[in-house]
Amino acid sequence: MSENTTTTAVKRVFVKTWGCQMNVYDSERMTGLLKPLGYAPTDVVDDADLVILNTCHIREKAAEKVYSELGRLKPLKEERGMQIAVAGCVAQAEGAEITARAPQVDIVFGPQSYHKLPEMIARAARDKGEVLETHFDVEEKFDALAAHREADGYTAFVTVQEGCDKFCTFCVVPYTRGAEVSRHVDMITAEVRQLAAQGVREITLLGQNVNAWQSPAPAGTSGDAWGLGQLCRHLARVDGIDRIRFTTSHPRDMDDELIAAFGEEEKLMPYLHLPVQAGSDRILKAMNRGHTAESYIRTIEIIRAARPDIAISGDMIVGFPGEDDAAFEDTMALVREINYASCFSFKYSRRPGTPGATMAKQVAEDVKNERLQRLQALLEDQKQAFNAAQVGRTLPVLFEKHGRQAGQLIGRSPYLQSVFAVGDPALLGQIVDVRIDGTMTNSLAGSLARDAA
Ligand code: 5AD
Ligand code: SF4
Repeated sequence: MSENTTTTAVKRVFVKTWGCQMNVYDSERMTGLLKPLGYAPTDVVDDADLVILNTCHIREKAAEKVYSELGRLKPLKEERGMQIAVAGCVAQAEGAEITARAPQVDIVFGPQSYHKLPEMIARAARDKGEVLETHFDVEEKFDALAAHREADGYTAFVTVQEGCDKFCTFCVVPYTRGAEVSRHVDMITAEVRQLAAQGVREITLLGQNVNAWQSPAPAGTSGDAWGLGQLCRHLARVDGIDRIRFTTSHPRDMDDELIAAFGEEEKLMPYLHLPVQAGSDRILKAMNRGHTAESYIRTIEIIRAARPDIAISGDMIVGFPGEDDAAFEDTMALVREINYASCFSFKYSRRPGTPGATMAKQVAEDVKNERLQRLQALLEDQKQAFNAAQVGRTLPVLFEKHGRQAGQLIGRSPYLQSVFAVGDPALLGQIVDVRIDGTMTNSLAGSLARDAA
């Protein structure tokens, strides 16, 4: 290399992500923010100049997992001197405790401070001390993250709402993510237009309580505040956007307008994640869910009346304090009644600081295990039956990427199932009719309908 050639050394960032879609999305955005600073993402922690642990606090020994990961990173830091940052909900909950217990950490920041990452990195390097950012400043985060979004595929997540005011007694989210805040419709529309211009065809609107989203009507229009149903209809008019999804919803916020949108707006995909958590009214009350089993079942009936083919998914918790055999059987009965296309299920985990953690009648671990096994067996049967019911049908599939086998493409059905089919790579980014030939454990196999014809 000649003497007067200057090179910008590429720096590398390694991000490890735990937890929800929101975290996966935030990790992507952080990597995006760091690009202009010369950071390229790496999968190899040994190569990293910056390691970000994007943490989740929702279940199990979240903080302990983070500390043990930090323990593993310590010798690497001593050898290589990279920066270590802890982000996400554990960072928000633990704050300065993290750097006290793990002095190898340079930066601790909560979910509302990602946009300040470049500045925090500079500050940590300059001051050689730790940087702590755990304020709630959601509006500012929305503003900063919306700018210069780069899409790298045909599908994209768009944050429209953050936080939660529901205070379910098992859950840390209201404490770590703060109160419900919505992004303005005009900012969302601008971002979605930009994504569409970059080739995105499917968007998933994200929020911890996405269907609590509310915004003043768009600038220049009059009328009442908008809800999520109106937002979906509005975004369906953006040229290039052909599919809209949203997650995660709360049964209490499923309003008539949103349900009607499922019936009338073809671009709103027939898939709804609507967690119920339990099937016993006594347990739902102790969980502070604000709905009964019956009201949930009724809500699903109304949604199915509006969109008969809709796939319903959910979240279930077994072993919440006070759950006896009869209450657990109520959960099994509700699951049989709803018949889920897919559903996540968890053992109750005591989260320090939440009301559930100090409730009487905590359920023994072996009882939780046994209940979880029974529930998961039932949910797996329902999922397999739902997948098997697609065989022989022709479904529109948005092809997103290449499969592992030569010539194979992978995409998603309207019901969010992964679908494999052999096809021309030119079909990537297109929505193509695929005849479903068979099922695999977690996906469907198909062939292009026009080949089969
Ligand atoms: N224990 C077990 N599961 C939990 N969830 C949230 N908090 C807990 C907890 N303390 C589950 C709920 C929620 C999902 C994201 O995680 O089912 O819907
Ligand atoms: Fe947690 Fe309940 Fe809020 Fe969902 S609605 S984030 S489970 S408190």
